[in-house]
Amino acid sequence: MRALQIPAIGRLEIVEAREPAPGPGEARVRLKAAALNHRDVWIKQGQYAGLKFPCTPGSDGAGVVEAAGEGVDRSWIGREVIVCPSFDWGQEEKAQGAKFSILGLPRAGTLAEQIAVPVGQLSPRPAALSWEEAAALPLAGLTAYRALFGRAGLKAGERVLISGVGGGVALFGLQFAAAAGAAAWVTSSSEEKLARAGRLGARGGFLYTRAGWAAEAAAAPGGFDVILDSAGGAGFGDLIDLAAPGGRIVFFGATRGNVPELALRKIFWRQLSLLGTTMGSPADWQAMLGFVARHGVRPVVESVLPFARAAAAFELMERGGQFGKIVMTF
Ligand SMILES: NC(=O)c1ccc[n+]([C@@H]2O[C@H](COP(=O)([O-])OP(=O)(O)OC[C@H]3O[C@@H](n4cnc5c(N)ncnc54)[C@H](OP(=O)(O)O)[C@@H]3O)[C@@H](O)[C@H]2O)c1
Repeated sequence: MRALQIPAIGRLEIVEAREPAPGPGEARVRLKAAALNHRDVWIKQGQYAGLKFPCTPGSDGAGVVEAAGEGVDRSWIGREVIVCPSFDWGQEEKAQGAKFSILGLPRAGTLAEQIAVPVGQLSPRPAALSWEEAAALPLAGLTAYRALFGRAGLKAGERVLISGVGGGVALFGLQFAAAAGAAAWVTSSSEEKLARAGRLGARGGFLYTRAGWAAEAAAAPGGFDVILDSAGGAGFGDLIDLAAPGGRIVFFGATRGNVPELALRKIFWRQLSLLGTTMGSPADWQAMLGFVARHGVRPVVESVLPFARAAAAFELMERGGQFGKIVMTF
């Protein structure tokens, strides 16, 4: 089978690899489509904890079960599935345990024609979604769902700000918030992305690249009950200013690095909550799939490329030009 391999920092190769044999309790899936996450780029750039080269990244995939390992009912064979990328979450809902891992490092990921995973990681392909849309959903959908509902407890009627709406998780955040009846605003580096977010239900948007955007947002619409962010860095201070009293700021990334200075007095005086979040539990995964089906959420797919053009897919994500997910088909 063909698999994408990162042999060393900065390099990508498509190699001929051995077909994975499903172990006990596992199934082998022939992938129809796989999607990129920023994690795959961090791994390629050598900026991810626990790196080991060579590795096959990829956390998102959808395909057809073609072989069952020992102890797995053969009725699995032929089923159309998506793969939950959150492995060994552990017993507690409040946080993952010590054995938790994400598909695509250390375990070989979905950027390959075939993958072997425990059957417990497989769910039926959402009926309303194409292969490309189904492959776009797992990691980003799970992360956005837990962040907004599991961690920040977002409710209908609340005001939410989604930062960097062009991002995979952020865009699901917008779609989920709008579907849940919250009033959502967004930020982006691009006017065009703000306009596209408006067509997906955003009430308005701000260019975070423009000086004074936060003052504009504070003037109208004013404080936000929930803010979803993955940029961090120096701009995080603006988000603290924009939170309504009692507001919750939930973050799952630090693309811009650590926050140089945290205004502790503003946080305690205004009773703000800073909430970290990562991926999601099996319960979050099931709840997310149910939510997507109930509300008819369709993942936004920015580009679909053949697997042979994986390097071009990575370049697209590295440029940050996307609005939604970058998908590869096999
Ligand atoms: N903890 C977890 O479980 C988890 C899960 C998923 C992702 N992450 C992390 O979250 C981050 C985003 O991941 P992703 O896969 O969604 O990435 P992505 O699809 O590549 O999106 C990145 C987006 O970040 C936005 N951005 C860049 N600089 C910004 C800034 N200064 N302020 C606000 N937004 C900014 C951009 O939005 P515009 O294009 O609109 O400007 C860009 O499109 C990465 O650091 C990733 O590692 C963590």
